[in-house]
Amino acid sequence: MKQSWIKHGRSLRGTLRVPGDKSISHRAVMLGAISQGTTLVENFLMGRDCLSTIACLKAMGAHISIKDDNLLEIKGSGLKGLRPPLGVLDAGNSGTTLRLLSGILSGQGFKTVITGDRSLRKRPMDRIIKPLSQMGANIYGHDGSCYPPLTIEGGNLRGIEYRLPVASAQVKSAVLLAGLFARGPTRVIEPVPSRNHTELMLQSFGADVTIRENSITLKPGPQLTGQHVKVPGDISSAAFIITAALIVPGSEVIIKDVGINNTRRGIIDVYRQMGADIRTVNQSYWGGEPVADIHVRYTGNLKATEIKGNTIPLLIDEIPAITVAACTAHGTTVIKDAAELKVKETNRIDTLAAELNKLGTGIRTTDDGLIIEGPRPLTPARVDSHGDHRMAMALAVASLVAGSQTVIENTDCIDISFPNFFELIKKLQ
Ligand code: S3P
Repeated sequence: MKQSWIKHGRSLRGTLRVPGDKSISHRAVMLGAISQGTTLVENFLMGRDCLSTIACLKAMGAHISIKDDNLLEIKGSGLKGLRPPLGVLDAGNSGTTLRLLSGILSGQGFKTVITGDRSLRKRPMDRIIKPLSQMGANIYGHDGSCYPPLTIEGGNLRGIEYRLPVASAQVKSAVLLAGLFARGPTRVIEPVPSRNHTELMLQSFGADVTIRENSITLKPGPQLTGQHVKVPGDISSAAFIITAALIVPGSEVIIKDVGINNTRRGIIDVYRQMGADIRTVNQSYWGGEPVADIHVRYTGNLKATEIKGNTIPLLIDEIPAITVAACTAHGTTVIKDAAELKVKETNRIDTLAAELNKLGTGIRTTDDGLIIEGPRPLTPARVDSHGDHRMAMALAVASLVAGSQTVIENTDCIDISFPNFFELIKKLQ
């Protein structure tokens, strides 16, 4: 397993782009495969998770070719074009692949089994099994029908109205994607808004989708039509560069063309609240998605904050990065209402506290979040990502101020979402 060291103390300066958005990349290739005509996806994230989605779709006969420079071409075969796979579908480490594809598989007239790696096989699937069963799919998991592998016998679905018990874009998306294959409309009602890429992209592919406050209604009928999708830079990857620039003295970085969708930009608003010098400029739209350049400059006066409630889904994947920044901020930062962190690639409440505390931080866990006492001087140690890509990058960023003897174990997982992370950090140093 790969270990990494990173040069510490050197300021980060320069202009860069981060790879394409993971959530949008998954959705673009899935919708492309079930559309009619050709879909081109520019700036597709060639990370391990999105490659798992491609492999699963190809196993069902989808025509997907990887062209140069992160360009993907999908020759769609329409809503009825997928074929039964010969073996078990493997979603690898990717919850998005497994949960969103389950929505599509529930609409197919054949049986599939879908599974994943050790981490994914521990993540809860009852949250999708329940609504997809209500729609008429025969879908079962392991261990009380909660965990992968899932066996799905689809077809003959009916539309439902479903109130999500937790804010989860993956569950919302699974239900909406199944709704494409159902009789009658499907409505999903969210407790608080979660990332809305599925509904935006469904609209741009020609689906009949209406979005009203917390409810999204899809009326089946229209075939989807292949599109040209340009994927914005992933704000969840940019989060680690932004955080590095905020904590390493003398840093100043511009990240070009980052997606700043309202349902994803919580980190920018929270960092502003903490007193950071962070600005978005050159805003434009790529399809329905807002994009901007992010300028961030070290000032050395971050202050603690409270992060809770409706804000949590807007920055759920950025909490590892934000926690590192909070360790350097003045005062006590409280993160609550974030129990969903326990069911990510690792239990991020526990792993963040356990691993960052090895570097001398003052983090306590609660039932639904973290309490972070700052600032404390970080000191070198041997830390472990536990195979969680965002943990590995959070630890790498912390090591920039913790000292050069810090060793991060298990960093190969970074290519799940940000394959050139270390290369970009080195270029900025
Ligand atoms: C994602 C939704 C979020 C997020 C995950 C990606 C998506 O998960 O944490 O990394 O692409 O829909 P939940 O739906 O479980 O909140």
